[in-house]
Amino acid sequence: MQNLSRRGVLTLGAALGLTAVADPTRAWAWSSTASIAGTDAVTDPWSVWDDATDPLVASLLTNGQIPAVNTAFDSWVNNGDALPAGLPAGLTTYLQQVNTLPSWADPVKLQQGAQFNKRMSLYLFLLYGLGSGIMSTVIPREARNVYWSAGGAEMQSRAAKTFTYGYDLSAPDAFQPTGHFVVTSNKTRLTHAAVRHLLPQSPAWRSVTDDQDFRPISNGDILITFHSLGTFVYGKLNAWGIRMSATEQAAYLHMWQVALHLLGVRDDFIPASWAAAKQQSAYALTPILAPTPEGLDLAGILLGLTAQIDLGVTRGFLNEFVRYVLSDKIGDWLKLPRDLVSRGLIEVGWPAYVAFREGLSPILPTGFSMFDKFVRALAMLFLNNGTSPSYTPITIPTGNRPG
Ligand code: HEM
Repeated sequence: MQNLSRRGVLTLGAALGLTAVADPTRAWAWSSTASIAGTDAVTDPWSVWDDATDPLVASLLTNGQIPAVNTAFDSWVNNGDALPAGLPAGLTTYLQQVNTLPSWADPVKLQQGAQFNKRMSLYLFLLYGLGSGIMSTVIPREARNVYWSAGGAEMQSRAAKTFTYGYDLSAPDAFQPTGHFVVTSNKTRLTHAAVRHLLPQSPAWRSVTDDQDFRPISNGDILITFHSLGTFVYGKLNAWGIRMSATEQAAYLHMWQVALHLLGVRDDFIPASWAAAKQQSAYALTPILAPTPEGLDLAGILLGLTAQIDLGVTRGFLNEFVRYVLSDKIGDWLKLPRDLVSRGLIEVGWPAYVAFREGLSPILPTGFSMFDKFVRALAMLFLNNGTSPSYTPITIPTGNRPG
């Protein structure tokens, strides 16, 4: 933790809706008693990667088999699809083991989570896109990894692939045989394993990384990203006064718990409750947020891509909305120019818009149609899979960004 004072951590945590109580100078001390596994241990998730997947993908890369795997994966889309024919035997055996929900997955909760996603969809698209997406650029390891991997050089396509994941997770049948999410998760898990093999071969990445042992994307890093997604969104919905039943809150968490399992995170790291998730987030995410040259570049590209869409608002408004959801501290890190008139509009208009939409206020606020166009245009951006003209499948990379 080089860039934030303890007071700064507390302020930033509060602004993000992530109560920050951790002392980041301490070693990992989040006990697994608060995890799905419920065991009593303190294991450092930054020294855990994905032993079930990493050696297999490393050998597929070394043997030049990944392009054929990507081609075979084209026809593997639905959760209910048979595994594609012609895969290397080791990969088929692996997928037979992992291409399934964990034993503790609760189909009723997953269905409730899907209904919640539908009810919350406009807020979710907005918060995942402008909140989590831009927050990822101030998560130093994630920013450096994304920048120096192959996809960092093609951010439009990369953003579209990430949207594929979010869209598949949020679909009503995400976990059903007709949905895509289990397959998409497996492709993502394999992609992460490829990155673990490839990035350490990038001199440019090695010269900037602080990843432990030059091995990226540990379980701890994935948990951090989860908090920038699920925990952040949950905190913001609460902070905005949006009503969520206890059932909905539990269902939304459960969906993310299953998602983490499918990405290869161990059960003894997956928080069992929102209280435990918030505590882990305060511990692991808030203190490490910081600007990097790579993150600054990525944020500029992502916001530039978003601004290409007609959102019915100015670029100044867009920048200020990012500041509004993520804090001015992060806005300053990302050098987002100020537009105080837009900020005034947002500070007054957004809470009024939410209150009206949620039936908490009968008064149609000034600026309602502007905010409505804004959130709907962002949702369409998501549903259209970014700015790409068509569905963008996730493919396993075979190289890095040229240095
Ligand atoms: C690739 C999702 C955590 C770094 C991907 C892809 C998805 C994804 C959907 C495939 C799209 C693409 O290839 O661009 C997630 C989710 C995470 C997570 C849902 C956690 C909940 C992380 C973390 C890091 C990371 C913690 C690094 C610290 C990368 C990189 C790629 C990637 C470098 C490959 C991009 C390329 O092909 O060049 N991730 N990720 N991810 N992810 Fe993640």
